[in-house]
Order: sequence, then C-alpha cells, then structure tokens
Amino acid sequence: MKLVENRSSKRNAPLSKEEATIVGKGAADIVREFLPAFPIYAATPLETLPGLATSLGIGGIDIKDEGQRYGLYSFKALGGAYAVARLVRDHAAKVLNRKVEPAELLTDEVKNIAAQLTVCCATDGNHGRSVAAGAQMFGCNCVIFLHSGVSEGREKAIASFGAEIRRTAGNYDQSVAEASETADREGWTTVSDFAWEGYTEIPGMVMQGYSLMLDEISAQAKHAYTHIFVQGGVGGLAAAVAGHFLDRAGAKRPKLIVVEPAKANCLQVSAEADRRTSIEAGDATVMAMLECYEPSLTAWDILEKSADFYLDLDDGYAVDALQRLARPVGGDKALRIGESGVAGAAGLIAAANDQSIRQKLGLDSASRVLLIGTEGATDPDLYEALLNNKPLAAAHHSVPA
Ligand SMILES: Cc1ncc(COP(=O)(O)O)c(C=O)c1O
Repeated sequence: MKLVENRSSKRNAPLSKEEATIVGKGAADIVREFLPAFPIYAATPLETLPGLATSLGIGGIDIKDEGQRYGLYSFKALGGAYAVARLVRDHAAKVLNRKVEPAELLTDEVKNIAAQLTVCCATDGNHGRSVAAGAQMFGCNCVIFLHSGVSEGREKAIASFGAEIRRTAGNYDQSVAEASETADREGWTTVSDFAWEGYTEIPGMVMQGYSLMLDEISAQAKHAYTHIFVQGGVGGLAAAVAGHFLDRAGAKRPKLIVVEPAKANCLQVSAEADRRTSIEAGDATVMAMLECYEPSLTAWDILEKSADFYLDLDDGYAVDALQRLARPVGGDKALRIGESGVAGAAGLIAAANDQSIRQKLGLDSASRVLLIGTEGATDPDLYEALLNNKPLAAAHHSVPA
C-alpha cells in the first residue's frame, strides 16, 4: 500500500468552463432536465456507519449506497443511459427539425427515429449495462464489447437488456480500441466512459450524469466532510466527485483520496509521473470494475486540479471491506456492496489502520468521511463466494488470501 500526493502545479486551479459544465456544481441541473425520460429515477440512500467510524477512531462515516440505483445496482446507471438519452434526443431533434423534450424519448415517434441508431461501448460490466439499458429504454440498437476477464454473470446481465454481445481478445483497453474501430467502420456511435484525444464529448456526458449523485449527496448530507475516499478505474467517477467539491469549495474542499487496486493503479502512477500515463496490464484484480490501465483524458485533467492523494490496495483489503460492510459492528446497517464498490471503504479502513498514512491524511476523531459504495452485488455468485471465502467456480479471478 502506497500513498502518493498530487504534486501537480495545477492542484486547486479552478475548473475550466467546459469542465465545470461536466462536473461543476451546476452540472446536475443539466442532468435533471432529462429526468422526465427516466420515470424510475429515485435518489439512492446515504447511510451512516457510526459503528465502523468508532472502530476506526474517526468522527463519522457516510456511505452512498449506489447498489440501490434503479435496477442497475451501480452509479454507472447515471452515466451511460443518460448519454444515450442525450444522443437520441439530439438525433431526433435533427430528424424532426424541432426541439425534442426529454419526456418525448419515451414516445413511439422518437423511438422509431432512435431505431436508426446503434450505440456501442467496451466495458468491464457496469458501464455497458447502463448503455444497454438506455438503448433498450429509448429504442436504439446496442452492441457491447467484453474482454475475456468479464464474468459470464455480468455478460448475462448486459444481454438481458437486449444488447448484442461481442467478446474480444485481450484486456479492457484493447476492447475499448476494438469497439471504437468497429463503430467507425459501421457508422455506430461509441458511448464510452473513457476519453482520449479527439473523443471527449460523449465521455463528458457520461461524467456529467454522475453529477446527479453529488447533488443528491449535497441534499442528504447532515454535515460537511473532511475526507472523501473514492475508487478509480479510468478516473471518471473520481473526477466527477473531486471536480464537484473543487467547484463548490475551492482549496477548502474535503481531502480527496483516490483508491485503486495495486494491480491497476494507472491514476496513481500518473500522479507520480505528474502526467497521464498508461501502465502495463498485469494479473487480474478482484476489483474488476477498476481494472483499467490508462486514465481517461478528461478525468485526468480534472483530477490534476482536484485530487489530493492516490492510494493503491491489494485485493485482500477489498474482500475484507466487503465482509465488514455486510456483517457490520456497532449497530451499523448491513450493506451489500460489491468487490469494486467497496474499494473506497477499503481504502479508508487501510489508511485509518496505518499510522503513517493516517497521520499524512490527518484522519482523527474529528474526521467526517464520505464514501461511495459504487455498486451492489452486480455479480451475485462472485459476491457470495467472496463474502463466504469460497473458491470461485467459473472465475476469472481467484479469491485472495
Ligand atoms: C462499481 C464501480 N465503481 C467504480 C468504478 C470506477 O469508475 P471510473 O472508471 O469512472 O473511474 C466503476 C467503473 O466501471 C465501477 O463499475
């Protein structure tokens, strides 16, 4: 476990206008305009964990339970499906040559137009589920590219939304490249949560969707936070969280600690190098949704300004945190949060128990920490195996000791 501080000269610089539109304090208002297209929308709960806080010697812990996010069981529901809604709305407005209201996305007239569109993406699981759900809801075609490390359980969940599944060779980053090349060839629209040079608009929409979760937290939180531990894959979520608080409070914001698997710590390596850096793919991590080897361009630009520390964790910490949240102490509510969804909590537990890191982060009895349980048991078989220390059947990952 290593803690790396963000030493960028851009740290605490204000967001650009474009970045503020994506993750700033007003971004959620743009997303809210689309809620008539999502009648199933409801805020997820913000739970308090006084028992865990006491056991770690800190003042308080709140955890946003994204496992409750409408039928998709992760915060990703807010990103991909929202981006699909915006793309369909824009396409329909062009075809009809008039303004199209978000509520109209659910009408046959707009759905017939949406049927001309094919959206696609590569995914570790949750983002693809969101894109597929959005495509099904609004009537467009959908192709999802899955690398070999994505479990069959996750594949089935995505296919249940009517998406065509294509398995690809290699890792996540290679599946991203294949999705984008196929989309170019076929005239499809790639709805990626990963931004690169020349492809930033749609990942920006995806990240903008996450801002609704931050808006919910602002309305639900009973006190200000001193620390936030948030997990990173390509960095989109972490940037949405960090950018939101930077825009709200500048340098007086809570300390933002990005937590990654040690086996896929591209954000931490980038922070050490002080520039966006891709890393070599290695062994699979149990935190499969965070298994990314290159930071998203837009996310990285925002994190340079708004993140404070990067912490990497071995897989065992995630399994331990999954079990601790499921079988809590001190009267805390039991939470069913998946192996990637607990990474922020795992980071807090590990940091609070390591004297040197605890001190560097200023964690003490006055600390009020925000965590985001980013997913529920999105692969139930895997979750049960990890919860009960059982060997994994058709596993791509082994249970860490
Ligand atoms: C459950 C979960 N948590 C966290 C993340 C990390 O998000 P990002 O890739 O935007 O950093 C993901 C990404 O898929 C995820 O599925």
